[in-house]
Amino acid sequence: MQFIRNVRLSSGGEIICFALFNIKSHPSATLVEASTYSLQTVAKLFCNIITWTSHLAAMKSAHVFADSPEKIEVKILDQPIPTPGPNDVVIKVVVSGTNPKDWKLPIYWRGPQGINTGDDIAGYVHMVGKDVTGFRVGDRVAAFHEMTKPWGSFAEYALAWEKATFHIPLHTTFEEAATIPLAAMTAALALFHGLGLPEPWVGDVSQARRDAQAGGVVIYGAASAVGAFAIKLLKRASIHPIIAVAGRGIPFVETIIDRSKGDTVIDYRGGEKAVVDSLKAAIPSGQKLLYAFDAVSENGSYQNIVQALDPRGNLALILPGLTGEGIPPTVNWGMTSVSTVHGSPFDLGDFGYAWFRLFTLGLKEGWLSGHPYEVLPGGLGSVQKGLENLRDGKASAVKYVYRIAETEGL
Ligand SMILES: NC(=O)c1ccc[n+]([C@@H]2O[C@H](COP(=O)([O-])OP(=O)(O)OC[C@H]3O[C@@H](n4cnc5c(N)ncnc54)[C@H](OP(=O)(O)O)[C@@H]3O)[C@@H](O)[C@H]2O)c1
Repeated sequence: MQFIRNVRLSSGGEIICFALFNIKSHPSATLVEASTYSLQTVAKLFCNIITWTSHLAAMKSAHVFADSPEKIEVKILDQPIPTPGPNDVVIKVVVSGTNPKDWKLPIYWRGPQGINTGDDIAGYVHMVGKDVTGFRVGDRVAAFHEMTKPWGSFAEYALAWEKATFHIPLHTTFEEAATIPLAAMTAALALFHGLGLPEPWVGDVSQARRDAQAGGVVIYGAASAVGAFAIKLLKRASIHPIIAVAGRGIPFVETIIDRSKGDTVIDYRGGEKAVVDSLKAAIPSGQKLLYAFDAVSENGSYQNIVQALDPRGNLALILPGLTGEGIPPTVNWGMTSVSTVHGSPFDLGDFGYAWFRLFTLGLKEGWLSGHPYEVLPGGLGSVQKGLENLRDGKASAVKYVYRIAETEGL
């Protein structure tokens, strides 16, 4: 049984090989027992043939080509099915999620074949590398594909590090699971690495938690996927009041904040002065606002925040290349990069490993749930539509997801 996990197979082959390898343990298989050795040899040969043919097998993969934001084109190409490195998992993608970077990245990161920028995978484990210990063929999982690398989630099969893969409970649908990996991990990094807030398992000994509980934590962009996950994780860490900033997504934000614990939401559509005044008014009387996560980081968002933040406060931003213009030099600010869980630009792989496993627990126990989603019909054929919607700012409190089996021709 053990070595079947390391054999590369096509889906049908998995079932037949599983049967061949397990037939000897069937209680009524006495005749087969006698010829176990030869049966195993046949099974190995059979599986090698399947392995070989699965390398040749092609799959559909959607690749993004973009010269500029206005010129996004998604083409569906035939690609070989990926094979895992020692610590990789190949996943048969049931549902892929989408993130804003999926249309932004190809403008700067081009190749003759475009790039499959999908990074949120939900599906069944199809193959595992030889050193993988936590997953078996057939497991229901979600995973965060390594950004900019081949074999992303806009395809029938995708590749993920074992460290960035996590089990999903039976009650979690693949659609819900596909909303989680990249965005929820970004939120965890911003709060518990960028801002240095205590993680939920830290007991009641943290001064940072006491400071945050006194002055509150701002989540700017609370209806965004990253912002909403940040709210769920703050709640898990017993940190309130949460001072959320949102617009069209306010009705959704009301469903995830806890007004009984002092949480509140501010409408950014009221303009800069109204937002700054409301931020100041939301800080509990006599306290200092020391923590803010800006999950927007554009259109004046952090310039608004710093007008309410204590000069010695902590600020986590989310967009690369920001100069921090307008942020007082005494503020401890930094950029959150979800790529750090894959070791770039610095290595937070263990942070990622720990938190992805905690996501499984959160889903199981109910303190973590996916973002609201919309299934765009047509599978990979709708990736273009999803990217254009994100580019055009149409997404409000929603993730676009694709059911791969709906792709034309599959
Ligand atoms: N650095 C990293 O590693 C990293 C990782 C993930 C994401 N990101 C970036 O982070 C941003 C958010 O990503 P996401 O996936 O969470 O996006 P998303 O869910 O698609 O964000 C859409 C939401 O943004 C909100 N929003 C837009 N402008 C706002 C403003 N001025 N104030 C408050 N809310 C505003 C909207 O709120 P309303 O509906 O309320 O209007 C909308 O619901 C994107 O720019 C993305 O590229 C960076």
